[in-house]
Amino acid sequence: MTKVAIIGTGPCGLSMLRAFEQAEKKGEKIPEIVCFEKQDDWGGLWNYSWRTGSDQYGDPVPNSMYRYLWSNGPKECLEFADYSFDEHFGKPIPSFPPREALYDYIIGRVKKGKLKNKVRFNTNVSSVVHNGNNFEVTYHDKKNDKFLKDVFDYMVVSTGHFSVPFIPEYPGMKSFPGRILHSHDFRDAEEFRGKNVIVLGSSYSAEDVALQCHKYGAKSVTIGYRHNPMGFKWPSGVKEVHYLDKLDGNKAIFKDGHKQDADAIILCSGYLHHFPFLTEDLKLKTRNRLYPPKLYKGVVWQNNHRLFYLGMQDQFHTFNMFDCQAWYARDVIMDKIKLPNSSDIEKDINKWVAMEEKLENPDQMIDFQTEYTKELHELSDYPKIDFELIRKHFKEWEHHKVEDIMTYRNKSFSSPVTGSVGPIHHTPWATAMDDSLKTFLDQSKK
Ligand SMILES: Cc1cc2nc3c(=O)[nH]c(=O)nc-3n(C[C@H](O)[C@H](O)[C@H](O)COP(=O)(O)OP(=O)(O)OC[C@H]3O[C@@H](n4cnc5c(N)ncnc54)[C@H](O)[C@@H]3O)c2cc1C
Ligand SMILES: NC(=O)c1ccc[n+]([C@@H]2O[C@H](COP(=O)([O-])OP(=O)(O)OC[C@H]3O[C@@H](n4cnc5c(N)ncnc54)[C@H](OP(=O)(O)O)[C@@H]3O)[C@@H](O)[C@H]2O)c1
Repeated sequence: MTKVAIIGTGPCGLSMLRAFEQAEKKGEKIPEIVCFEKQDDWGGLWNYSWRTGSDQYGDPVPNSMYRYLWSNGPKECLEFADYSFDEHFGKPIPSFPPREALYDYIIGRVKKGKLKNKVRFNTNVSSVVHNGNNFEVTYHDKKNDKFLKDVFDYMVVSTGHFSVPFIPEYPGMKSFPGRILHSHDFRDAEEFRGKNVIVLGSSYSAEDVALQCHKYGAKSVTIGYRHNPMGFKWPSGVKEVHYLDKLDGNKAIFKDGHKQDADAIILCSGYLHHFPFLTEDLKLKTRNRLYPPKLYKGVVWQNNHRLFYLGMQDQFHTFNMFDCQAWYARDVIMDKIKLPNSSDIEKDINKWVAMEEKLENPDQMIDFQTEYTKELHELSDYPKIDFELIRKHFKEWEHHKVEDIMTYRNKSFSSPVTGSVGPIHHTPWATAMDDSLKTFLDQSKK
């Protein structure tokens, strides 16, 4: 029987499990599936951990999410076509849920079946080698401290790419008297109450970590951008200046000459695509971009069509794009989709990469990833979902952010699955300090 290995049970790995489950429900004979997860539970980044550094077995902690994290895009844009928010929560909920609500939703879709039996938890895949016929996998059973081996016909890498921080160094860091950390290790903005915080970066982490620190009482927040400023209308107490030049004692000195007393530096300098378990011939090497090369349809490894990567793109679209990828990978594995010849594969990859390289602004990027996701959607039986509405929502959301970065999370959107409109949350995001699921769902607080 064909054997498939899935590495990782974050949203992508769970999409893969769900795709096979749905085929089985339709009476199709699915391959044998073994899923490896190095943590003790599923959910990937959404499974919050207080830990930073190493886990109890000495392995690096993959979690990058923090307390008080809310969805940074409308939930309607990531909704599963086969499991709506209305179905999960039994009623429409606001458009920007906190992490715990999204975690509940992701898990809700998979926990009713028998999928958990397919996952080996606390199991780290340490090596994957293709021997010409199949994949030889070595994995570490962390609880029993045993290294074991198995052989697979297909390999799905769904290990995420926001877990291994990219950490640059600046002059003066060694003697800086305060705390220096990467956003990967940021857990609770309360830690920075009353402090002067420097945030380096100009993407989503820089934006949100800066706002979190402001929201939970930092004395000042100074964001240093490298190439382009985010340019939002920041609330008083937050400013954006040009790139850090050096630290001099507790003074941060920026390229534009700006000086700022600093108690903490938070590096929001992004993450590395890191696959230490794969041999060089199988390893995706890319920066964070919308169309990493060498992946046919963004999924199939160009040099070995039995290897699939899920969710390796920079992401506007997330959960439903991961689903489209998983449904597609499933159908290639189950031989329902035939791949074209190598030359057509190359042409298709080059076409998408060339288009991606010409993108100039967020609207174009949203269009690009929507077109990609739509194309993939048409290739499998992933249920109907209105990607045109999602495209429109993303663009509106971008404009809301430009209008007011403090209020964009108070807006509501309509579902591309059920059409229902998210109610306005009982508390505006800027004053919603309690992010628990219970408080979020309690509309009596209005
Ligand atoms: C701070 C932060 C906030 C975010 N907020 C949002 C948001 O608001 N909305 C949104 O849509 N997206 C958000 N994202 C994007 C996020 O990446 C995706 O939502 C999603 O988690 C990606 O899923 P994934 O399965 O690819 O990866 P992950 O969620 O990272 O899951 C990967 C899994 O693989 C496991 N794994 C890794 N290596 C191995 C190995 N060798 N052996 C066994 N198991 C392994 C890990 O333990 C993990 O469980 C955020 C990301 C970050 C970093
Ligand atoms: N739900 C939420 O609120 C939330 C919060 C945080 C993150 N996220 C998600 O997390 C994911 C990762 O976002 P991210 O912002 O961590 O990574 P990212 O989008 O890949 O951005 C990396 C940033 O690091 C900067 N950078 C790289 N090298 C640098 C250097 N040497 N010095 C200074 N800056 C440097 C880049 O600057 P340049 O542009 O100049 O290259 C870029 O701004 C995204 O999917 C995002 O949506 C969500």
